[in-house]
Amino acid sequence: MKVTVVGAGAVGASCAEYIAIKDFASEVVLVDIKENFAEGKAMDLMQCASLNGFDTKIVGSTNDYSKTAGSDIAVITSGIPRKPGMTREELIGINAGIVRSVAENLIKHSPNVILIVVSNPMDTMTYLVHKATNHPKHKIIGMGGALDSARFKYRLSEALGCPTSDVDGMVIAAHSDTGMLPLTRLAVRNGVPVSNFLSTERLEQVAQDTKVGGATLTGMLGTSAWYAPGAAVSALVQAIACDQKKMFPCSLMLNGEYGQSDICLGVPAILGSNGVEKIVEIELNDAEKAKFNESADAVRVVNGDLASVLA
Ligand SMILES: NC(=O)c1ccc[n+]([C@@H]2O[C@H](COP(=O)([O-])OP(=O)(O)OC[C@H]3O[C@@H](n4cnc5c(N)ncnc54)[C@H](O)[C@@H]3O)[C@@H](O)[C@H]2O)c1
Repeated sequence: MKVTVVGAGAVGASCAEYIAIKDFASEVVLVDIKENFAEGKAMDLMQCASLNGFDTKIVGSTNDYSKTAGSDIAVITSGIPRKPGMTREELIGINAGIVRSVAENLIKHSPNVILIVVSNPMDTMTYLVHKATNHPKHKIIGMGGALDSARFKYRLSEALGCPTSDVDGMVIAAHSDTGMLPLTRLAVRNGVPVSNFLSTERLEQVAQDTKVGGATLTGMLGTSAWYAPGAAVSALVQAIACDQKKMFPCSLMLNGEYGQSDICLGVPAILGSNGVEKIVEIELNDAEKAKFNESADAVRVVNGDLASVLA
């Protein structure tokens, strides 16, 4: 199992580290445009191997895609992250050109690769990869919902005063501060609806804290977070690499599912060795449907800014 991670920055390196520690891949190739940066990160990570007990080989490359040839899975984290006060959408100008050329290079060297798009604004970057390449639909996956759901579970456990292992919940729709849809109605503590334990107001606060989870950390760290994003990407990579058939909300091209078409948005999907094995349609209530559609409208506006990159 060969995995490429493009962008050896905060998220890319964290993702490579988690993949290595879980020890399910034979090789991870880290690629970056900065001279010797990926090579340095790869060497530093390889020096953890004897300490952390993994056999995954990590190699670095300065923009040489021949080293990525034959990758089964590739993660795209290249581009700039947001600074405090910025929205993810403001990154589109720089990141669209980077993501397009990276995706084309990856597919050229690994025609069967399954792509996981992380760069922001992620739903629009995932849409761009679909539109700019002829790559099969089930092999293009945007990562956002897995991270947002982990943040939701963290906020739920905080409100409930219990470990995160006691709670389950999911965030769908856009990976944006306003477009995220934490499904509080379906969240459970060990099978019991969380509304049995928390007031409507407290649950609304949990949802709001979840939606601004990335912005909160960007304000504290001065750049966007990387541990949980890296862990979320590695969970998707592992589900595919190990054919786990696990369900994650992922940004996928919709073709009528959830009443939407020609847009990438976060919806639950089963991931296995074929990439996206199935989109799972769950029944949303009227308020959730309205929020999902509002979220789609906002993503469509951002997608409109891709015209020059796709021309
Ligand atoms: N989808 C999510 O849930 C999520 C979560 C966190 C961050 N992000 C996004 O991921 C991206 C990376 O964030 P980060 O914190 O790792 O940023 P970072 O600046 O630490 O790393 C980005 C790396 O990309 C490299 N790069 C730039 N252009 C490149 C190119 N053409 N080819 C190869 N490498 C190139 C840079 O040299 C840098 O090392 C940002 O767009 C950020 O907003 C997404």
